[in-house]
Amino acid sequence: MPPKVLCQVWNIKIIVSNSPKELAQKFFTDTVSTYDSVAKYATLGQDKKWKSYIIKKIRGDSILDLACGTGILTRMIAQKFPKSEILGIDISQNYLDVAIKNSNFSNVSFLNQDAEKLSLEKKFDSIVSSYIPKYCDAKTLIQKCVIHLNKDGRIILHDFAYPKSKLVQKFWHALFAMLQICGKFIPSWSFAFANLPGLVKSSDWIEQYRAELESAGFELETKYFAFGCSCVITAILKQ
Ligand SMILES: C[S@@+](CC[C@H](N)C(=O)[O-])C[C@H]1O[C@@H](n2cnc3c(N)ncnc32)[C@H](O)[C@@H]1O
Repeated sequence: MPPKVLCQVWNIKIIVSNSPKELAQKFFTDTVSTYDSVAKYATLGQDKKWKSYIIKKIRGDSILDLACGTGILTRMIAQKFPKSEILGIDISQNYLDVAIKNSNFSNVSFLNQDAEKLSLEKKFDSIVSSYIPKYCDAKTLIQKCVIHLNKDGRIILHDFAYPKSKLVQKFWHALFAMLQICGKFIPSWSFAFANLPGLVKSSDWIEQYRAELESAGFELETKYFAFGCSCVITAILKQ
């Protein structure tokens, strides 16, 4: 699909081009060496706070981190749950290599798999993911999670959201304008910084995943962070 400029606000281009899946492939090809720093600074230090909330919601002895990337969340889970069995899966081997290199936990393992084609021998008490929902089809991903979830299990999904407040939208656009300037100095990120705002703005992942989870029999808790720029859905199977 040829790139289409949706609108231009605060000097940033909002581009909608490839499908979310194609965008994920492009975002995570050459960005691995700087990913952890970008996740920290581009979210103004909030990424750790959002992940800490995910950790608070985790229950059980077996935990699956979908799209674990370089393993930032996986390591936080391993520190908090030293006796649990933890598996991180990701579609990108580059990212997994860094996750493996950075992990010295005996209870953590990693595997290369597409979350939408998840096929594991085992089931989990908690399935968590930070930043995967917008890249995947809600129905497919929830079906795969449900198959791999123990009775009484829970699914915790986190991603960016487009804020509803007009004032916060101005700040959001300003932040991406700044990131797009930064992208001129970190070329490996320029594509991601140019395309991420369009992806986040056009994504209705919160509504889609909520609908899929509700129809699969989960009770939901939805919490927004950073004035609506980030959201965590905690889904617990109804008794
Ligand atoms: C923004 S990173 C997030 C990494 C990690 N969850 C974190 O919070 O730091 C997104 C990750 O999702 C992975 N990813 C995207 N689509 C995927 C899919 N369908 N299956 C598995 N991993 C996927 C990418 O390879 C990338 O490592």
